[in-house]
Formats: sequence, C-alpha cells, structure tokens
Amino acid sequence: MKDNIIGFKRFFFLWLSVLSFEPSFPDDPYYRLWQPFTDKNEVVSTQTSVSSSDFWNKPPEKAFSKAIAAGVGKKLEIQWPSGSLQSTRYYVSLYFQDNRAASANSWRVFSVAVNGKTFYNNLNVSTGGVTIYSAEWPLSGPTKITLTPDAKSSAGPLINAGEVYQILPFGTRTLAKDVAVMEELARNLDNPPLDWVGDPCLPQENSWTGVSCSIKDTVARIISLDLTNAGISGTLPLTIDNLSALHHLWLGGNKFSGSIPEMNSLLKLETLYVL
Ligand SMILES: *[C@@H]1O[C@H](CO)[C@@H](O)[C@H](O)[C@H]1NC(C)=O
Ligand SMILES: *[C@@H]1O[C@H](CO)[C@@H](O)[C@H](O)[C@H]1NC(C)=O
Repeated sequence: MKDNIIGFKRFFFLWLSVLSFEPSFPDDPYYRLWQPFTDKNEVVSTQTSVSSSDFWNKPPEKAFSKAIAAGVGKKLEIQWPSGSLQSTRYYVSLYFQDNRAASANSWRVFSVAVNGKTFYNNLNVSTGGVTIYSAEWPLSGPTKITLTPDAKSSAGPLINAGEVYQILPFGTRTLAKDVAVMEELARNLDNPPLDWVGDPCLPQENSWTGVSCSIKDTVARIISLDLTNAGISGTLPLTIDNLSALHHLWLGGNKFSGSIPEMNSLLKLETLYVL
C-alpha cells in the first residue's frame, strides 16, 4: 500500500494501571490515547526508567512503569486489544523492558507471536527497553499475543505496552455527516451487524455490511445501504435524511419499528424498499 499513512481509526494502547487517573499522558508528543489494560496475569513494577527519546516511536516514559509478567519458563498469553477487529492490516508496535534493577544479568529472552504467527523470534529484553513493530500486520476478529520464554532464559516473559492501529489510505475519509448518520443508525438498531464499527466505507474492500460507497478525490460517500433480510429490529433515525449521496436504500425483510423518517434531502435516491 504505497500512499498510506497511519490512520487514527483504531487506536489501542496497552498500558498497565498506574496510580493516577490521567486519561492519557500529556507528555506524549503524538497525543496518543493510552488506555489501561489488566487481566488475570501478574503485574510488576519497573525499577529502571527509560528515556522515551531512545525509541523512534517515542512511547511516554510512563508506558514502561508497569508490565504484565509470567514466571520463569512460563508462557504469557494476553487477549489484547480486547475487542474484535475488522479484518485488515494494522500497524502493531509492542514495548518491553526488563523490570528489575539494572545489572549485567537483568535481561530475558522470549519469542513473540500474534495470533499464533511469529512476530519476533528470541527477543532479548534488557532494562534499556525495546520496541518491535510491524507496519502492516493482518488482524481479524480477536487478537492474542503470546510470549514464549527461551528455555535458557533465567526470567519469564513480560510486556509493558502496545499500540494497534488501522492503516487508512492517505487522506481518505468518509464524509463526517455520513459517518454521523451511520453511527446513529447503529445505535438505534437492537442488533446492528457485528462489523458496524469504525469507518463505514474504509478500507474500501471492507466497508460495513450492507454499505456501498464511492470515493471521489479523498472523500468517501455512502451511495447505497442494503439491509434486506438482515433480521434487524430497531428504529430509523431522522438524520437518515442527511445521507445526501444515497442512491439505493433497501431495508425490506426486517422488523423496524416507529415511523419512516422524511427523506426530502435524498435527491439522488433511485430505489427505496422499506417493507
Ligand atoms: C541479552 O542482552 C544483554 C545485554 O543487554 C547481553 O549481556 C546478553 O548476553 C544478551 N543475551 C543473549 C542470549 O543474547
Ligand atoms: C443533518 O446534519 C446536520 C449537521 O450537518 C444536523 O444539524 C441536522 O440535525 C441533521 N439533520 C437531521 C434531520 O438530523
């Protein structure tokens, strides 16, 4: 994907409960949103601080303050990000640091797999910290990160932080007004399709179920919405009148309740099935 930037559509960080209630770290040069994550695994505190300027992707120092860890010789498995991801490629970056006081023996070796596929083999993690990343890693559905210790490593695996975000074509976005309508529609439905999260049109090969879009210049617009026989119940929002690029609206075979909103602004509408 040549002209891609890293989009901010999916943006997760693994960060282990620090004692403040700050929603994110003000010292983050990229204004990333860091969210705490904990699970059943043990949490350890870090004794040696790192300087974020030592890392090209500049994680805030606090992201290293705690780690999820497993004992010597034990595998560490985390389900993170915790949600289900739309099937596409993601930028994935993971951060590690040996939590012990700095010494010649404060390092450990383990391999990192994401959804069973090797992400990095025999990673040597010392108190200086290390980041490993992939610019385009395919993910789909739930994500599992597995750290497998080297048999000779005298300490178990651990992980401090991570980022996963979705790659979007350079500059392309779905018109905000169309996104707002679709998000409201999703909220109004009792059982919206499972993939109705993120951008409704992008990435193009993966638009929301039932949604078709056209892209002109760098703006995607929703041109048809087909939920025929999708077994959906709920109401239609009034804002549906804002989908001004819509050509086809097919909602038949569902259990919508309430009244049909006005569609006076849908000047391009060619076909409409609501029953
Ligand atoms: C891991 O790195 C440390 C230095 O940080 C080094 O002393 C040690 O030998 C390395 N271990 C392996 C197995 O490469
Ligand atoms: C359409 O969007 C505008 C904002 O662009 C909003 O103010 C308006 O309420 C929306 N229309 C309807 C019918 O909700």
